[in-house]
Amino acid sequence: MDPRGVSTVLVVGAGAMGHSIAQVFAQAGIDVELVDLDEGKLSRAMTLIQSNLDLLAECGRVPSAQIPEIVARIRPSTNLAAAAKDTGFVLEAVNEAPEIKQRVFSQLDRFCPPDTVLASNTSSLNIFKIARIKRPERLIVAHWFAPPHIIPLVEVAPGPATLPKVIAFTTALMQRLGKRPLVLKQYVPALIVNRIQNSIARVVWEMLEKAWATPEQIDLAVKTSLGIRLPIVGVVQSVDFTGLDVAADIMRGYGAVSPVVAEKVEQGHLGAKTSKGLYDYGGRSEEEILTKRDRQYLKMLEHLERIRAFDPI
Ligand SMILES: NC(=O)c1ccc[n+]([C@@H]2O[C@H](COP(=O)([O-])OP(=O)(O)OC[C@H]3O[C@@H](n4cnc5c(N)ncnc54)[C@H](O)[C@@H]3O)[C@@H](O)[C@H]2O)c1
Repeated sequence: MDPRGVSTVLVVGAGAMGHSIAQVFAQAGIDVELVDLDEGKLSRAMTLIQSNLDLLAECGRVPSAQIPEIVARIRPSTNLAAAAKDTGFVLEAVNEAPEIKQRVFSQLDRFCPPDTVLASNTSSLNIFKIARIKRPERLIVAHWFAPPHIIPLVEVAPGPATLPKVIAFTTALMQRLGKRPLVLKQYVPALIVNRIQNSIARVVWEMLEKAWATPEQIDLAVKTSLGIRLPIVGVVQSVDFTGLDVAADIMRGYGAVSPVVAEKVEQGHLGAKTSKGLYDYGGRSEEEILTKRDRQYLKMLEHLERIRAFDPI
């Protein structure tokens, strides 16, 4: 299983995700069978792919002269059986409905060669329970983010039967596309990013339902605070700057201190101020660590202000 040998892939579902995922494969020089039930979705997909590529060219990320050959690598079709018969890798991106996914995987099981890797783009449905296929060792999650032709991350998650060589192949194939695959030890519902997004969504809906803040206020609040910090320190390292002792006090106020935080506090690892917390700063002084962080924050702030990111789209 060598991802460098992949010359054709199959993308099933040409909607919001599928069209753009197909485009990414085509940009990497790989032929794509793009299958949907709906002819209208397929022609819309090809229109969107053209406009995505035009924008990438305008921003210097794709040479304009290459656009016709990239588009020509994508073959839209409604015939799954024909499109599946010679493919080594399938990315399923049909609607988030268990019965639809189950039907598609049964068809793929019948139509694809026996060792074709079958990847699903879902994060919230447990595809390992839904898909009924004869060889579950070739089933994996490869979860992309919208818009796939821009966002680098692909979360890769194996099921209980997925073979290590299937994980390695999928990861290397995503790297060949220029993506940043992140391999989880095992599938957990919603994976990493949607778990975080879901917990944000819960409190956002509550604030809107109770009219505590307007949509514009919530977004401006997030953009002018977390929006500057998150790209630099993420959500975990951020706590090293709060201080784990302070974080423990805050958690105590809400009812319970996470054992992860309690253990660090007990060991005296309080974050940047002790040069060790959830991250290890290798003995650097607090001043050195803060200066490095703040230099990045200032660059981020300047960039966001320059592109007027605090205004709504
Ligand atoms: N939209 C997002 O931001 C996002 C992000 C990450 C993952 N996902 C996941 O990706 C998957 C696709 O999401 P989407 O937003 O692209 O959905 P979408 O509704 O835009 O597209 C789904 C497409 O699948 C097609 N389809 C349905 N049944 C089919 C079949 N049997 N054979 C072929 N095509 C079929 C539909 O006609 C439609 O064009 C879902 O599992 C979703 O949860 C979505």
